[in-house]
Amino acid sequence: MTSDSDQQNLRPPPHVLIFPMPVQGHLNSMLNLSHLFCLAEFDVTFIISDFSHRRLLQHTTVAATFARYPGFQFRTFPDGVPEDHPRSGRRAMEFMSSVNKVTVPLFKEMMIQENFLASATRRRVTCFVADGVLNFAADFCEENGLPLIYFRTTTTSYFWALFRFPELLEAQEIPFGGKSMDGLIESIPGMEGFIRRRDLPSFYRVVDLNDPILKDTVSVTMLIKRAQVAIFNTCEDLEGKIVEEVRKHVPRVFSIGPIHEQVKYRLTEKKVESSIITASLWEEDRSCIKWLDAQSPKSVIYVSFGSLAFVTREQVLELLHGLLDCSQRFLWVMRPDSIIGSEGEDPVPVELMERIKGKGLLVEWAPQEKVLNHPAVGGFMTHSGWNSTLESISAGVPMVCWPCFADQMTNCRIVSEVWKIGLDIKDTCDRKIIKKAIRDLMEVRKDEFMERSANLAKLVKKTVSKEGSSYNNLDGLIQYIKSLVI
Ligand code: UDX
Repeated sequence: MTSDSDQQNLRPPPHVLIFPMPVQGHLNSMLNLSHLFCLAEFDVTFIISDFSHRRLLQHTTVAATFARYPGFQFRTFPDGVPEDHPRSGRRAMEFMSSVNKVTVPLFKEMMIQENFLASATRRRVTCFVADGVLNFAADFCEENGLPLIYFRTTTTSYFWALFRFPELLEAQEIPFGGKSMDGLIESIPGMEGFIRRRDLPSFYRVVDLNDPILKDTVSVTMLIKRAQVAIFNTCEDLEGKIVEEVRKHVPRVFSIGPIHEQVKYRLTEKKVESSIITASLWEEDRSCIKWLDAQSPKSVIYVSFGSLAFVTREQVLELLHGLLDCSQRFLWVMRPDSIIGSEGEDPVPVELMERIKGKGLLVEWAPQEKVLNHPAVGGFMTHSGWNSTLESISAGVPMVCWPCFADQMTNCRIVSEVWKIGLDIKDTCDRKIIKKAIRDLMEVRKDEFMERSANLAKLVKKTVSKEGSSYNNLDGLIQYIKSLVI
């Protein structure tokens, strides 16, 4: 008589379909999720745009990493924009709506034509892990009897601040109506006492609540109510209170982050010699590691604003002067397509290039995780994208947060006011403020920031290790998906 668990082991593995928005910050965490499912011996089909797939093959070891898992496959689709479209910066939203308009119909057609990817070697798709910004997923799953697993690649706090739109409206806390941006918001349980108007997701900074981007962002957030499961790349030690609030609205919520640390732990635990996924869509300039090797410990501030944020030429100049006036050296990731208002001009005026030599290093893209874990790096000036924030927390590096849009506004407030591992300089653009923030972080208040950052790094490493909450939640998620196999 075979037991249930033996029965389960006899059955073909679950086949998980994963569909991220094909942009850097979303690809990272969902490729890491795919890796975790491959380690659990699931079959995985990963939907990705032709453009991003080509860039991954060109700049990363993703192909070799996943070649070891016969159950893993990429399925690629056009994203509907021309090859030279920036797919980032101020045109990021335009790009994302093109994915919904072009990629999605082709994806749906393929799924039907190929009977949900059933084949001699793999079962029909068991469940659909959809990026939380894909507005078609809930209808598609309900129409086709597929369990929907909703993956939010940003903070749970950001998600929760959007999910509470009806209550914010009810309490007349939105629209802001010209009231002080420093006024506290009271209608988001778990975030009272520190969230101000200016810390809400940037989409709330509209005069008219019928703003199309705000409406789309809120409506796709509400789709979580139609999901069987929600996954968040966070953990109890970081956002436990908020995750508890979300659990009141969604049957199953699994916080399994920091997901990049969970992958590292599981690979070591299973003694799998596999390269960690860096899902870089740009070529990493590794010369910066050699430059860092020549710097003294904790003497460098690393500056990067992720893959989608954009800075104005005025901000570049203020930041550059702020950095040049500091005693710290700097490593600055300056993506040419991220600077607006400098068409045809050098992002950095020639006369300042002289002052940079020997004081700082500019690169177009860096091996960020390696940089953050380098002994020479003592601080991170970031836009507070969630992957960057988690990587900095895991590396024990305190932050100066200069957010641009979306969740970044909320993330940086939590960094400064809840975890107290950094300083929030949002809504400013002033070389004196920049200089003072870096000086406070890396000189005046260095010890307190380093101590708190080191403690939090220990906590998040523990949470993804055996018996940690994220470790146990991932096991719970794997068991749940196995139970879906009919
Ligand atoms: C986007 C949104 O902008 C962000 O607000 C949201 O939280 C996630 O989706 P992105 O702007 O790309 O993300 O920022 P982030 O989440 O920080 O992801 C950037 C990724 O690129 C990180 O994993 C970082 O390690 C990597 N990176 C960045 C590099 O590998 N090299 C670099 O030079 C800069």
